Amino acid sequence: MENKTKKRILMLIIILAAACIIFTVLFLLLNIKDKFMPNNETNYEAEIIELPDPKYDSETSVEEALLKRRSVRRYSGEPITIPEASQLLWAAQGITDQTKGFRTAPSAGALYPLEVYIVAGNVNGIQDGVYKYEIKEHKLRRILAGDKRRELCDAALSQYSVKDAAAVIVFSAVYERTTVKYGEKGVRYANMEAGHAAQNVYLQAASLDLGTVVIGAFDSEEIKKILNMPEEENPLYLMPVGRK
Ligand SMILES: Cc1cc2nc3c(=O)[nH]c(=O)nc-3n(C[C@H](O)[C@H](O)[C@H](O)COP(=O)(O)O)c2cc1C
Repeated sequence: MENKTKKRILMLIIILAAACIIFTVLFLLLNIKDKFMPNNETNYEAEIIELPDPKYDSETSVEEALLKRRSVRRYSGEPITIPEASQLLWAAQGITDQTKGFRTAPSAGALYPLEVYIVAGNVNGIQDGVYKYEIKEHKLRRILAGDKRRELCDAALSQYSVKDAAAVIVFSAVYERTTVKYGEKGVRYANMEAGHAAQNVYLQAASLDLGTVVIGAFDSEEIKKILNMPEEENPLYLMPVGRK
């Protein structure tokens, strides 16, 4: 074989070996990152949790729930259950008319600007993380892994109820869904709707004998960052929930 050809083959082998080494190092680095830093991973394709069907009756009358409703900021530290989380989310925005898509709370023009998240930190059977409530399917879609309660608490002026809760329900609004029809008034309407939804959660919590409170004092930009909210969403309320 000619010397020139030999050199070429050698160069080719060296290049292939270098490519293999770079590929292996990159592969290992990515695997290590996945293993040790799962909390910062965003994975929109990740886990879907089928929620149990909501219950449509209970021992608590509406009148009793209204009477018992109170803002509760201290919790026992015991976990809540998936059926409880499911019931609270359904109360917030669940579908109550499958054909027309109407929900538990009223909405101006039935345009439904609200989005609902649950930040799980101590929910039996649910891995800690941030989940979007898929309203039409009554499912949860995990969008972030890891316990985000402390970060949320910091963004809510260090209100301890946020970090001590078993979970935090978060409402946000996409104003454009309503302003497209009602102009600037649509912002007001969407804000009002968060109030309706939050009251539903309060009453459902009273019926389940759970404690909750609406939190309006927080840094919006920080909350958006922590939950990795799309740009068009505006956080409106946090509702920590826990066993009393
Ligand atoms: C718009 C709004 C914002 C609120 N923000 C907070 C808050 O940031 N932190 C908190 O602990 N409670 C907050 N609350 C709850 C009130 O403090 C509570 O409703 C009030 O003290 C009356 O108590 P009750 O809900 O038990 O009747 C808020 C209530 C509303 C309506």
